Amino acid sequence: MGFSKGVFLIVYLLLVFFKPSLSNFSLSSKELSEVPINFLKSAKKSEVFDWMVGIRRKLHENPELGYEEFETSKLIREELDKMGISYKYPVAVTGVVGSIGSGKPPFVAIRADMDALPLQEKVEWAHKSKNPGKMHACGHDAHVAMLLGAARILQENRELLKGTVLLVFQPAEEGGGGAKKMIDAGALENVEAIFGLHAASHLPLAEVASRSGPLLAGSGFFEAVISGKGGHAAIPQHSIDPILAASNVIVSLQHLVSREADPLDSQVVTVAKFQGGGAFNVIPDSVTIGGTFRAFLKESLIQLKQRIEEVIMGQAAVQRCNATVNFFSKEKPLFPPTVNDKDLHKLFQKVAGDVFGTDGVKDMQPVMGSEDFAFFQEVIPGYFFFLGMKDDTMKQIPSPHSPYFRINEDALPYGAAMHASLVVRYLLESQTETPMGTGDFHDEL
Ligand SMILES: *[C@@H]1O[C@H](CO)[C@@H](O)[C@H](O)[C@H]1NC(C)=O
Ligand SMILES: *[C@@H]1O[C@H](CO)[C@@H](O)[C@H](O)[C@H]1NC(C)=O
Ligand SMILES: [Zn+2]
Ligand SMILES: [Zn+2]
Repeated sequence: MGFSKGVFLIVYLLLVFFKPSLSNFSLSSKELSEVPINFLKSAKKSEVFDWMVGIRRKLHENPELGYEEFETSKLIREELDKMGISYKYPVAVTGVVGSIGSGKPPFVAIRADMDALPLQEKVEWAHKSKNPGKMHACGHDAHVAMLLGAARILQENRELLKGTVLLVFQPAEEGGGGAKKMIDAGALENVEAIFGLHAASHLPLAEVASRSGPLLAGSGFFEAVISGKGGHAAIPQHSIDPILAASNVIVSLQHLVSREADPLDSQVVTVAKFQGGGAFNVIPDSVTIGGTFRAFLKESLIQLKQRIEEVIMGQAAVQRCNATVNFFSKEKPLFPPTVNDKDLHKLFQKVAGDVFGTDGVKDMQPVMGSEDFAFFQEVIPGYFFFLGMKDDTMKQIPSPHSPYFRINEDALPYGAAMHASLVVRYLLESQTETPMGTGDFHDEL
């Protein structure tokens, strides 16, 4: 067989095998770019918008802490039932994993977190939290409403799905490692990629922001009890003062970043808790300090953890105190850094560009905050982005985790449309363009 005959045969075979998908792809390339706009139109319809707002307000009135999201989870399941979407429950205590599409591979997932924070809401409005000391102050009520919005759009357009979309509703994002428990419970089995978003009050409405590579830091928490010997504040020689010892510990901890870390490898050590004593004239027996440490590299995070312990123990001993350090390895596992997959970043830019226009898609600097979405990204390629919801009617923008925090409900349709468009396009394009990158045979043709 001559060379040209061989090439001809290969091209012929490729055409025979790929003709259907090629013709579908070329036919639908315009439709592909129209998917996001059509989804946004659907999400903005008053019927869908009002429904999402209603869900969000119901959740806002009834915030539940990590692993206690029983009513939240129930509401989600009731809505999925109404839409005829099947799901697995319970996954990691209160978690729910819905499924839309063929039920066959490829599987792609979109995720929302369900938990609230232990805060007393200070915003006076019709749908204020009814649970004392609990509040949706991070926008997870809106995240759930948007994922349900996406579910509705996807279910209505399920003929577009070339595979299966999993709707991952996870518990305990706020330090509880709910994502890790979802993975342990098998939520990501056979899943190729996962997308997640966070509402961002500083970013204008109808904009999104993210980046390829490291986006958010990895983090850990620590607490230390420094014990001395209490006594009369006027007779210090008879006491061992744990307040002064703890103060020196805190100052020494600041040297870990300023003197031991590479200045180009961003890290944070913050002592945010300092408790001890209570009277003006009594040296207490012990002091409790606690805080968080952050880094973008897992090695740096592990190094910080080790040095925090050494500094606390050593510095306490210098001042004749004893110390114990707790890193909450069980309740608050070390969060890995949130690192975005570069191929998913390309898909995100295309899809977001179709929803918001290229001006609405911003590249951002990494941030030292962290997200337990990172656990998913340790297992499979994942992509996390911020959804703008700035409210121009407000003079001051309340920060997340503040008792004055507020969501701009006008952002809900954008989040729902982004979620839905990302997975539809992922499934369509993974069968034509292979964004996950095993081959670029179309370019060869
Ligand atoms: C192409 O589209 C037709 C009609 O919608 C469908 O029946 C067929 O399964 C599609 N082929 C592929 C490979 O997606
Ligand atoms: C520290 O621990 C040692 C050993 O348990 C004990 O003898 C000592 O009294 C403790 N010191 C303080 C200040 O608690
Ligand atoms: Zn939060
Ligand atoms: Zn959050």
